[in-house]
Amino acid sequence: MSNYHIKHLEEYYQVYRKSVREPENFWGEVAEEHFLWRKKWDKVLSWNFKTPEIKWFEGAQLNITENCIDRHLLNRGDKTAILFEPNNPDEEAEHITYKQLHSRVCKMANVLKDQGIKKGDRVCIYLPMIPELSIALLACARIGAIHSVVFAGFSATALSSRINDSDCKLVITSDGSYRGTKSIDLKGIVDEGLKDCPGVKSVLLVKRTHAEINFHEGRDQWLQPLMDKADSNCAPEIMDAEDPLFILYTSGSTGNPKGMVHTTGGYMVYTAYTFKNVFQYTENDVFWCTADIGWITGHSYIVYGPLANGATSLMFEGVPNYPDYSRFWQIVEKHKVNQFYTAPTAIRALAKQNISFTEKHDLTSLKVLGSVGEPINEEAWHWYNDVIGKKKSPIVDTWWQTETGGIMITPIPFVTPTKPTFATLPFIGIQPAIMDANGQEVTGNQVDGRLCIKFPWPGMARTIWRNHQRYKETYFSTYPEYYFTGDGAFRDEVGYYRITGRVDDVIIVSGHNLGTAPIEDSINEHPAVSESAVVGVPHDIKGSALYGFVTLKETGESRIHDNLRKEINQMITEHIGPIAKLDKIQFTNGLPKTRSGKIMRRILRKIACRDMENLGDTSTLLNPEVVDDIKKNVL
Ligand code: WTA
Repeated sequence: MSNYHIKHLEEYYQVYRKSVREPENFWGEVAEEHFLWRKKWDKVLSWNFKTPEIKWFEGAQLNITENCIDRHLLNRGDKTAILFEPNNPDEEAEHITYKQLHSRVCKMANVLKDQGIKKGDRVCIYLPMIPELSIALLACARIGAIHSVVFAGFSATALSSRINDSDCKLVITSDGSYRGTKSIDLKGIVDEGLKDCPGVKSVLLVKRTHAEINFHEGRDQWLQPLMDKADSNCAPEIMDAEDPLFILYTSGSTGNPKGMVHTTGGYMVYTAYTFKNVFQYTENDVFWCTADIGWITGHSYIVYGPLANGATSLMFEGVPNYPDYSRFWQIVEKHKVNQFYTAPTAIRALAKQNISFTEKHDLTSLKVLGSVGEPINEEAWHWYNDVIGKKKSPIVDTWWQTETGGIMITPIPFVTPTKPTFATLPFIGIQPAIMDANGQEVTGNQVDGRLCIKFPWPGMARTIWRNHQRYKETYFSTYPEYYFTGDGAFRDEVGYYRITGRVDDVIIVSGHNLGTAPIEDSINEHPAVSESAVVGVPHDIKGSALYGFVTLKETGESRIHDNLRKEINQMITEHIGPIAKLDKIQFTNGLPKTRSGKIMRRILRKIACRDMENLGDTSTLLNPEVVDDIKKNVL
């Protein structure tokens, strides 16, 4: 069907217009022609952005794993579904065919059933980037259990709060994980975290590093022996289109992380359709997304989107600089990767290395390059385009969010002319809006403001796990009748969008969303600390780095300050994970506050960025005197 694979700009506009004028017909056709439904829907869409309630394909029944696996068995049974490249380049890559994937997913699904996991139960997955991770997601989906993947770089405290928030009954983890030369004691972290999780009755363990672990009799079990005994067929649980498929936590500007809930039918249709068009995937291509499955990018574009298209999806366990900075390019050459999807932070880090790392590898297999997670700066864009793509592989700068489920604003390769730092045009079916300071939508071009979406799309998250009120307040209250993204955007003279960054207290560090509130909470737990405020400052490689302003209960000497800095970062590592460590910590006598006592992060952000001239009027502050002192001592 032509609208499944767009080939010219005119066709894009034509399909786009149809998708916007007749969204139900449009998405109904996509869903009907490309997926396997056990029962067809009664209604394509019903929605209300006030309550808010969004339903796609209501009344339809399906199982997403039948779409991602079973239906490919006839024609693609021996095709590689997952191509696993281990951390250590001397360890052999593993090609898991669709047939093998079917059998492994069914076996794991049967193991989960034997553990008493039923439709609707939550299962926490805390695994490194090994095949069992993808298989675990699919095994949950096979039996209708809701998976909640926690990125394996999060700390024990972060893990336990996520497990408890969604009442997970079971955890799938491993003895350890490899990251370059290091191996990490994942099981130790899980043991620590589970001390606070009385609801977890069983832990399934994948053997990866063969490290010594503490085995909790009655709770822990090695997965492999159970898999060996399990039946390699497992009938798929028939799900309603709106049954939850998974929960994935994302940082908010305040409070605890939000458990975004994605449902089955719409998410499947949207990830599959975006995957096919945004990467122009054709049969026998090898697609590689370097994200971790612990993030939404991995869920949608390592697992569900590619597999729903019968694609070969490469999964990489390691890091870009091990054994050296040529690893990505070595993998591209070795597996003849056709589409490569990564984050600007990785591009910047790789661009800083000697050119010989890229030159010694044959990158001619590459057809499309992708970028995601944060704005890509002009320099990084050109390096990616010139050095990696040799000006022949279009760059798709894809803007989207955990909440959106799939790509929202993006060029279509070979169709949309690209423009550095612009995510360009809305994807089919997506209706962006730019809002001005008065909360009105601005029309026309050459405008900037805050980015909203004014019509539902199938991949959108439907709620926050057990907190629908927060879902409503966070996304649908700032601008009534609009979904508010939290990002700023500029629309240029031809209607291309450039994302200008977060407009709230979320800071993106190396492509990871971090809320300032939980970081400040961990700092404040240090007994010497009275108050703190964290802001983002530009950083060459990470995009943004974290800068903390901390007031102490008693002012100490600078000798003590260095120790305190270490201890504060240690607290953050324990509460959240090393990704949230502060680059700089400035001790101050006070934090600038409004008369109502709110910390003025805007002023602190400017000082941290050494933008001292534009602090605005500070005389109305509760404590204007602290500002000079903070300016004087900026690090
Ligand atoms: C940012 C990642 C500019 C943005 C898929 C968004 C981007 C947040 C881009 C979501 C891009 C993502 N250009 N900014 N191409 N892609 N962002 O939930 O601020 O981890 O709101 O989802 O990343 O991050 P999340």
